[in-house]
Amino acid sequence: MADFLVLAIESSCDETAAAVVKNGRTVLSNVIDSQIDIHTKYGGVVPEIASRNHIANIDRVIRTALSDAGVTLSQIDGIGVTKGPGLVGALLVGVAEAKAIAFAADKPLIGVNHIEGHVCANFIEHPDLEPPFLCLIVSGGHTHLAMMEDYGRFDILGRTVDDAAGEAFDKVARAIGLGYPGGPKIEKAAKEGDPESIRFPRGKVDGSAYDFSFSGMKSAVLNYLNHEEMMGNPISVPDVAASFQQAVIDVLTEHAVTAAKELGQRRLVLAGGVASNRTLRAALQKACEAQGITLYVPSPVYCTDNAAMIGAAAYYHFAKGERDGMDLNAVPGLRL
Ligand code: KG4
Ligand code: ZN
Repeated sequence: MADFLVLAIESSCDETAAAVVKNGRTVLSNVIDSQIDIHTKYGGVVPEIASRNHIANIDRVIRTALSDAGVTLSQIDGIGVTKGPGLVGALLVGVAEAKAIAFAADKPLIGVNHIEGHVCANFIEHPDLEPPFLCLIVSGGHTHLAMMEDYGRFDILGRTVDDAAGEAFDKVARAIGLGYPGGPKIEKAAKEGDPESIRFPRGKVDGSAYDFSFSGMKSAVLNYLNHEEMMGNPISVPDVAASFQQAVIDVLTEHAVTAAKELGQRRLVLAGGVASNRTLRAALQKACEAQGITLYVPSPVYCTDNAAMIGAAAYYHFAKGERDGMDLNAVPGLRL
């Protein structure tokens, strides 16, 4: 088959992103326009502001993605866009843009599940990686343990019953005064702290080996902070950050390695924004090595939201002959 170039668009949260990806694996360009500085003022993503900034920036981001790749729109074989899950107003900007381009340039169109995109980020740097494999997806909105049975086909083993892992990082960061975005700030503070200093609970979900619960862990941090404050004790932000981070890492590692052993899987694929956490990557690497499991992780730039991962996922849908029509819509609550 001749080379197939996807122009991919991602606008599900606070990153306006576009990329050109060849044959689902080779990234020709990857442009990410982050709104982090804008939302930091408000301590989190403000949906209406995110949508407005997507509108203001998306044309420029797409033009840059095409020129960085050294191609024109006429050389593009298909348009891929995140259709969900995410913020509805933010998603609609990308979906409307993708439909307009597909219609005007007469190109096939496909809507992509953002969570699937995170997993497919692994295809970019691991050319030998093909499903089926076990995957652990940890982002700001989602925490899933799943089997990717085939391209575009997942079997969910467990998911969070309350907060997502990244959400817990963000909430704890706010509570200890580190602000937004929480994950990278906790990781940085934790470097100076002792992960064994405070024992936070490793959340378990009754009756399920693979579901996750992070809200109890977050509440335990809040209770600890209140208690210490009442007692007039000083709080060590690095110790709280390191101990909380360790609790999250222990739960993620235990779930993933248990699933790999029980299902006889020799490969574990890590994905999502939280996967850029170096302490998590190192802990999982060590646990996997001990069990003879190969761990696959994307580079940090492909862990947090980007359009290259959407281009990778879109390619495999196009390859199966799937197409969306002009009735494609944003699906904010889309599940994997
Ligand atoms: O995948 P992503 O960019 O967006 C969603 O699809 O949700 O993930 C964003 C989440 C945020 O909650 C952020 O705090 C977390 O990923 N995150 C991290 C790190 N970098 C980003 N969490 C822990 N450690 C990090 N280094
Ligand atoms: Zn994401």
